[in-house]
Amino acid sequence: MVVSTRSLQLLLLSTALVYAQPSPEVQKRISAAIAAAANESNPDLTAFVNPFIGTDNGGDVCPGASIPFGMVKFTTDFTGFAPAGYVADPTQTVRGLSPLHDSGTGSSLGSYGNFEIMPMTCPGGFDTCATMLTDRETFRKNNTDEASPGYFALTLDNNIKMEATSTRRAGLERFTFPEGSKPFFVLDLSNDLPDSFAGGTLNIDADQGRITIEGSWGSSFGPTRFNYQAFACYDLLNNGNQTLDQFGVWQANAFGLDAKGLGQTHLNVTRSLIGDDYEYGALISYEGTPEEIIIRVGVSFVSTDQACSNAEEEIGTTSFDDIRAQSQALWNEKLSSIEIDIANTPPNVTEMLYSSLYRASLTPNNATGETQGPFANTTSFFFDSLYCSWDTFRTFYPLMALQHPTDFAQIVDSYIDGWRKLGWMPECRANHLPGYTQGGSSGDVIVGHFAINYHNEAAELGVDLNDLYSAMLADANLNPPEWNIMGRESNLHTAFGYVPFDAIDPSSTGRQTREGSRTLEYAFEDFSIRQVSLLLNNSANEEIFFNRSLWYRNVWDPTVVNSGFKGFMQKRFPNGSFFFTDPTDCSPIDTDPNRECSLQPDNIEGFYESSSWEYSFFAPHDVNGLITLMGGNTTFVNRLDHYFNAGLFLAGNEPSFQTAVGYHYANQPAKSVQQIRQIVLDNFGITAGGLPGNDDQAAMATVLTFHLLGLYPVPGSSQFLILSPFIPKYTIHNTFLNTFTTVTTLGFDPKSIQTPIPNGTAAYVKNVTLNGVELSGKCHFDFYDVFRLGGEVVIEVTDDITQGNDCGSSVPESLSAGGFAVAR
Ligand SMILES: *[C@@H]1O[C@H](CO)[C@@H](O)[C@H](O)[C@H]1NC(C)=O
Ligand SMILES: *[C@@H]1O[C@H](CO)[C@@H](O)[C@H](O)[C@H]1NC(C)=O
Ligand SMILES: *[C@@H]1O[C@H](CO)[C@@H](O)[C@H](O)[C@H]1NC(C)=O
Ligand SMILES: *[C@@H]1O[C@H](CO)[C@@H](O)[C@H](O)[C@H]1NC(C)=O
Ligand SMILES: *[C@@H]1O[C@H](CO)[C@@H](O)[C@H](O)[C@H]1NC(C)=O
Ligand SMILES: *[C@@H]1O[C@H](CO)[C@@H](O)[C@H](O)[C@H]1NC(C)=O
Ligand SMILES: *[C@@H]1O[C@H](CO)[C@@H](O)[C@H](O)[C@H]1NC(C)=O
Ligand SMILES: *[C@@H]1O[C@H](CO)[C@@H](O)[C@H](O)[C@H]1NC(C)=O
Ligand SMILES: *[C@@H]1O[C@H](CO)[C@@H](O)[C@H](O)[C@H]1NC(C)=O
Ligand SMILES: *[C@@H]1O[C@H](CO)[C@@H](O)[C@H](O)[C@H]1NC(C)=O
Ligand SMILES: *[C@@H]1O[C@H](CO)[C@@H](O)[C@H](O)[C@H]1NC(C)=O
Ligand SMILES: *[C@@H]1O[C@H](CO)[C@@H](O)[C@H](O)[C@H]1NC(C)=O
Repeated sequence: MVVSTRSLQLLLLSTALVYAQPSPEVQKRISAAIAAAANESNPDLTAFVNPFIGTDNGGDVCPGASIPFGMVKFTTDFTGFAPAGYVADPTQTVRGLSPLHDSGTGSSLGSYGNFEIMPMTCPGGFDTCATMLTDRETFRKNNTDEASPGYFALTLDNNIKMEATSTRRAGLERFTFPEGSKPFFVLDLSNDLPDSFAGGTLNIDADQGRITIEGSWGSSFGPTRFNYQAFACYDLLNNGNQTLDQFGVWQANAFGLDAKGLGQTHLNVTRSLIGDDYEYGALISYEGTPEEIIIRVGVSFVSTDQACSNAEEEIGTTSFDDIRAQSQALWNEKLSSIEIDIANTPPNVTEMLYSSLYRASLTPNNATGETQGPFANTTSFFFDSLYCSWDTFRTFYPLMALQHPTDFAQIVDSYIDGWRKLGWMPECRANHLPGYTQGGSSGDVIVGHFAINYHNEAAELGVDLNDLYSAMLADANLNPPEWNIMGRESNLHTAFGYVPFDAIDPSSTGRQTREGSRTLEYAFEDFSIRQVSLLLNNSANEEIFFNRSLWYRNVWDPTVVNSGFKGFMQKRFPNGSFFFTDPTDCSPIDTDPNRECSLQPDNIEGFYESSSWEYSFFAPHDVNGLITLMGGNTTFVNRLDHYFNAGLFLAGNEPSFQTAVGYHYANQPAKSVQQIRQIVLDNFGITAGGLPGNDDQAAMATVLTFHLLGLYPVPGSSQFLILSPFIPKYTIHNTFLNTFTTVTTLGFDPKSIQTPIPNGTAAYVKNVTLNGVELSGKCHFDFYDVFRLGGEVVIEVTDDITQGNDCGSSVPESLSAGGFAVAR
C-alpha cells in the first residue's frame, strides 16, 4: 500500500535534506565484513544486514531490535511522519524508546509505539523533568545511529545513549549517562503512534522495582471503533544492582497542566470525553550517578502478569550481551538458508540480498500465546501484523515457501484460524484487530500457495487441508455483513460475473469503490481456489472456479483507446455498460494531485492505488488470455514497452510487481531481463532511502530478493519464471525438506549489473540445465522438479540478445491456454 498524498508531500519535503543518519560506521562495518567474507567458510551473515535500508524515503522500515518474527521490535519513536517509529531524517526529534512496532506499514498514522521510556537528566530535580511528549522531545547526535540484527542503538544530543536487544516478547534496554549525572526516566502510559489511547492503568511497586502498565488503544489501519489491550512490565533494578531514588506519576497537557505526584504509585484513567489532550505516565530516578542503567521489559497482549512472566522466562538474569548474541544466532540460522558466492558477487548485491532476507523474516509478529478477543486462548499459532495480505501474497509468502515451510505453515494455520473464529480469513489484521481490505481476500492466494506446494507435508506441518479449503470457499462464496475488513462482496460479484458499480447491495456493507481492480483480484483469488479444488479432486468446484478465474475478462472494455492502444480494464455498471476512467489516472504521470486513488469514498476511478494501465496487465494466471484480449503478442509487447517508457510503471507499489515478467509470455524473455535490471538499479539500493515505497511487511524486500535470484513466482501455483540472476552462484536450503539446490549463473559478468546492460555483456538466458539435463523451455520450471528435490541448476547467460530472447519449447503457463491443468 502507499501512504496518503498529504504524507507523500511531507516526505518529499524531508528527502530534500542532507542526511546524517545512520552512523557512517554502519556501512563501513558491513563493507568490511563482505570483503573479509570472501575468504571465510562460515561467515557471520548478520554482518551483511543493513537494518536502516528503507528508513527514509517512505520505506517505513523498523530498524529495531527483534528476533525473527519477534512480537517486540525495540526502537525509538520520532516526531514527523514515522509509521514504524524510527526515521533516519535528522531534523526529527526522539520522544522515547519503545518495544512495540510494525515494519514497513503504509499506514500514515503509524503503528504501536506504546510504553515509551525516555531517559533524561533533570538538573533541577524531579519537579523540573520534562514529561509530556512535546517537552521531552530531544534531537539525537548526528551520525551515531547503529543497528544490526538483534540490536539497536541511538545517542541523544545530550549524550545519553540508548541500546536495546530482545527476545520474542521481552527485551533489555541499556542506557549510558554522561559522567556525574543522575538518571531520570519518564515512562508513558497513554501515548502510542496513532494517538489512540482509550484508557488504562499504571502501578509502581517501588520495593520490587517494578512498573506495570495496561491499557487500550486503537488500530493503525482499521476501523477506529475497535480497541485492543496491551500490557507491559518494566523491571527497574537490574537484579538488585540498581537502586531507585524518587518515583511518582504525572499528568500533563499542552495548556499548562504539568502536574507531578511524587510518591504516588497508581494511575487509573479513561480517555477524556471532552477532547483527548491528556498525557500520563510515571517518573523515576536512581540513587547516585551510575553511568549505566539496565531496564528489563516484558510485553503481553493477555495480562500484566504474563508480561512480567515473559520477561522472567525469556530473559531472567541473562546479560544484555548474551541476549544479543542469542538473537544474532537465531538470525544467522534464518539467513543461512540462502548462501551465495560472496567473493564473486558485487558487494551491494550481497548487502541488498541479506538485508532483504532479514526483513523477509522480521514480520509478521509472532504473538502465539498472546491472544485476546475472539482469539483468546486459541490453540493455533497466532501471527499479527498481516499488514496486508494484498501486499504479501505476491512475493513474500512464495519466498517463505521456497526456504522456510515450517514458518509458512504456522502462519497459514493462523490465517485458517481466522476463519474458524470469525468466519473469514484475515486480510489486514494488525494490532490484534481487523484492518481494512484493499482488494479482495488475498489470504486465499496465500493459503492456496501453501496447499499447492506442500499438500504432501500439510498434516506433518500442522495444517488441516479440509479447513484450509473451507476457509477459501467461505471467502469466495459467503458475503459477510461487512466486507470492509474480511471476505468479499461476493453476492454481487457472483450475480454479475464482475463487481458492478452503482448496484444495490441490500444485505451487506462495504466501501463500493475499486470495482475494476477488485474484479481482477477476485479472479486471481478464484484461480487459487480452482487449483486447490483440482488438488482435492472436487471437480464441480474445479469447473466453477476455473470459469470464475476468467471473469477478469468481464471488466475489459475493448473500446477505450489510450496512446494508440485499444482496450483497457474499466469499472462497469450493472447493465453491462462501462464507466470511463482515463487509463493514466492514478498512474505516476497523472497530473491531478488531488485525485483519490485509495480507500477514499471519492475514488471514482475503479482501481486501487494504481491505474487502469497497470491493472490491465493483472491476470498472473492467464497472461496469454490477456495477450489475446490485447490483440496478440506484438501489441502486448508494444504495450509493455509503452508502459515502461511512458513512466506508467510505479516500482513503489505492489500492483506493479508482476508487470516486467510479462514479456516472458510473449516469448521475449530478454526484455524481462532488461526491465528487471533497470527496476532494481533505478529503485533499490543500500542507503536509508534504498526502497521505492513502503516495505509493506517485506513485500518490497521479497520482490527484490526474487529479482536478485533471477526467479519470479506465480502465486497459487508451483511455477517459477527463470530470469538472469544478479549473483554468480547461490544455494537455497529448504529447511523442512532438507534439500539443497545450487543455482550457478554460467558466464556471469559483474558488468551486467548495470542499466542499460552494456553491449557485449553476458546477461541473457541462453540455456538452463537441471542436474545436467537441458530444459526445453528455458523460461520456467516447477518447484516439484527443482527445489523440492534439490540438485544443480545451471543458468547459462550470453551477450547475444537474440539468442537470449527465446523461451524455447514453451512459454510459462496460462490457464486458458491449457496451463495449470494438474495439481502435483
Ligand atoms: C583473500 O585471499 C586471497 C588469496 O589468499 C587474497 O589475495 C586476498 O587478499 C584475501 N582477501 C581478503 C579480503 O582478505
Ligand atoms: C544534524 O544534521 C542536520 C542536517 O545536517 C541538521 O539540520 C541538524 O541540526 C543536526 N543535528 C544536530 C543535533 O546537530
Ligand atoms: C547483579 O546482577 C547479577 C546478574 O546480572 C547478579 O548475579 C547479582 O546478584 C546482582 N547483584 C546484586 C547485588 O543483586
Ligand atoms: C480502574 O477503575 C475502574 C473504575 O473506574 C475499575 O472498574 C477498574 O477495575 C480499575 N482498574 C484497575 C486495573 O484498577
Ligand atoms: C553501491 O551503493 C552505493 C550507495 O548507494 C553507490 O554509491 C554505489 O555506486 C553502488 N555500487 C555499485 C557498484 O553499484
Ligand atoms: C483463557 O484461559 C485463561 C486461563 O485458563 C482463563 O482465565 C480465561 O478466562 C480464558 N479466556 C477466555 C476468553 O476464554
Ligand atoms: C512462534 O512462537 C511459538 C511459541 O514460542 C513457537 O513455537 C513458534 O516456532 C514461533 N514461530 C516462528 C515462525 O517463529
Ligand atoms: C485425487 O485423485 C488422485 C488420482 O486419482 C489421487 O491420487 C489423489 O489421492 C486424490 N486426492 C484426494 C485429496 O483425494
Ligand atoms: C464454465 O464455462 C463453460 C464455458 O463457458 C460452460 O460451458 C460451463 O457450463 C461453465 N461451468 C459452470 C459450472 O458454470
Ligand atoms: C504468444 O507467443 C507464444 C510463444 O510463441 C505463444 O505460445 C502464444 O500462443 C502467443 N500468444 C498469442 C495470444 O498469440
Ligand atoms: C548496442 O547494440 C545495439 C543493438 O545491436 C545498438 O543499436 C547500439 O548502437 C549498441 N550500442 C553501443 C554503445 O555499441
Ligand atoms: C545446454 O547445456 C547442455 C549441458 O551442457 C548442453 O548439452 C546443451 O547443448 C546446451 N544447449 C545449448 C542451447 O547451449
